[in-house]
Amino acid sequence: MTVPLEGFHAVKHGLRFAPSAVTSVVVRSHADAAALCARLAPDVTEALLAHAVVGEVDHPTGVTGTAARPAPDLSVLRARTTPLVLLDQPRHPGNAGAVVRVAAAASASGVAVTGTLDPWTPSCVRGSAGLHLALPVLSVDPDDVTGPLLVLDADGDDLRGTVVPDDAVLVVGSERDGVGPVLRGRADAVLSLPMRPGVSSLNLATAVAAVLYRWRLQAPW
Ligand SMILES: C[S@@+](CC[C@H](N)C(=O)[O-])C[C@H]1O[C@@H](n2cnc3c(N)ncnc32)[C@H](O)[C@@H]1O
Repeated sequence: MTVPLEGFHAVKHGLRFAPSAVTSVVVRSHADAAALCARLAPDVTEALLAHAVVGEVDHPTGVTGTAARPAPDLSVLRARTTPLVLLDQPRHPGNAGAVVRVAAAASASGVAVTGTLDPWTPSCVRGSAGLHLALPVLSVDPDDVTGPLLVLDADGDDLRGTVVPDDAVLVVGSERDGVGPVLRGRADAVLSLPMRPGVSSLNLATAVAAVLYRWRLQAPW
């Protein structure tokens, strides 16, 4: 299955992290694409221009492309050296895409998703700026995931009292209902990010960002 890489940044990330998965690059003009590469990402200039064909591009950057959807990497569900993010039945593709983006940035081992939202829909990939190609992103059954399960919930215990293990599974709930009973019942800890009184919750991608960077900044690297 092919996924769209909408815009220069998505194509750039595809070429950086999974060059063999990029199946096409269309540019409005070779010269403009070369100038964009020179300014923003000289490291991908050669690969981008080697793929590029001139055509109609419906994106302000004048660059678009496609990539092959990789086979799911199930290994991250069982053993890891960096946390796995587990989204429990998210509804909005843009939120899931934003989670993939920050998970890639913070060096999480992957993003797994329960429920009916396919994390590879074009609107999810748009939300990650193509960083789906930088780490495993897959749909799962909750039973397939093993490891220390840290459920994130605004009513949980204060996260500041906890060291996030490197192999943690960070379970994040849906926009409307939070984490469901199946994963909540398996939690090793239920943790909250402190908020000002009167604020009910953070957007789920924001919560993932805060916890992943709590982990990332506690690590020695
Ligand atoms: C928009 S919130 C869901 C709010 C939902 N009404 C509920 O009952 O939990 C989406 C998810 O982000 C995470 N989250 C949001 N705010 C949080 C906080 N302050 N501490 C920990 N996790 C939080 C939780 O995993 C939550 O399920």
